[in-house]
Amino acid sequence: MQLTRSWYAVEHSSAVPAGSVRRLDFHGQAFAIWRAPDGQLSVLFDRCPHKGASLSAGLVGEQGLACPYHGWCYQADGHCSKIPAQDSSQSIPRRAQASSLHCHESVGFIWIWWDPDARSSSEELPPLPKVGPVPEDGDRSWRSLEGSVEWQAHWMRVLEAFMDLTHAPFVHSGSFGAMAPDQLMPVEQWAKDDSVYERVLAPRDRHYRADQGRGLRAWFNQGDEQGSSISSDDGGEQHIQLWLANVSLVRVVFGDFQISLLTAHVPVDGTTTRNLWRHFRSFLRSPLADSNARGRVDRFMAEDQRTVETLRPLIPDLDGHGDLLVASDVSTLALRRMLREKRDAGLFR
Ligand code: FES
Ligand SMILES: [Fe+2]
Repeated sequence: MQLTRSWYAVEHSSAVPAGSVRRLDFHGQAFAIWRAPDGQLSVLFDRCPHKGASLSAGLVGEQGLACPYHGWCYQADGHCSKIPAQDSSQSIPRRAQASSLHCHESVGFIWIWWDPDARSSSEELPPLPKVGPVPEDGDRSWRSLEGSVEWQAHWMRVLEAFMDLTHAPFVHSGSFGAMAPDQLMPVEQWAKDDSVYERVLAPRDRHYRADQGRGLRAWFNQGDEQGSSISSDDGGEQHIQLWLANVSLVRVVFGDFQISLLTAHVPVDGTTTRNLWRHFRSFLRSPLADSNARGRVDRFMAEDQRTVETLRPLIPDLDGHGDLLVASDVSTLALRRMLREKRDAGLFR
């Protein structure tokens, strides 16, 4: 099940440097993402119109993306500009055109407009989702890291998992810090403009504090480079937001101490989702803390993965058959309502 006519974040911008090409697996099809030496980005279906070779195995040069089989060269819009085996007096057929997708870059990701029926012209595309707040590249008050992990789960289940805070005390007690399960109802929650948001206070009660030594708070209490730290009684809050089709942002804020996890949940196919994450922290900004931070994100993701891969039915039923949702599933309910509206508008296939 795919949501169409929507923007998807599909790759880290940094994964496709100038002069390179990379394969993208998305909704069961293959694409070639490539960047010309001058920085221009392009996404083409991964099939050469000549004899069907995989363009993502090609080479990027001054003449464009060259197919690995007979060297036909393609430009960013997919048109073939050169057939090396023919001399310049022979014309290039009009059908020598690789299909291209609209693409953009924002918040460190490459985005594509997914419209498999190709009904949209570029003039009528909606703007990219306004994802944030996310630190700007080069902002020295933050340290950032990137990574990815593939789960055997449907994209919708994965998206929901990042908006489902009531699982945290059970799934993440070893990484995220233990929380009292009955204190996780959002103090603010809304769903509009293809986005779902909730804000949750992050208090710890006496019983659950017993666990905090290996949790998030313990990490905050390592202090920043200046050696300051927060008191264990400081209240914090979490902001969780997702944007259709596939991006989530989790921000944990204890005053000036902040951690954000921005994730693109890329639907590889009906049973696989690739999570591309970007981690930002406002403290312990030394690169020396990176391996610790990466280990924490990996552990956090692995904790989710173990459970999310077991969820059945594989694809959640948007009409509520199969799962039994209750009032505390407030954001899951909001997300499914939003997806139902998309389905009823004919945007699912
Ligand atoms: S198959 Fe691509 S150039 Fe021949
Ligand atoms: Fe989780």
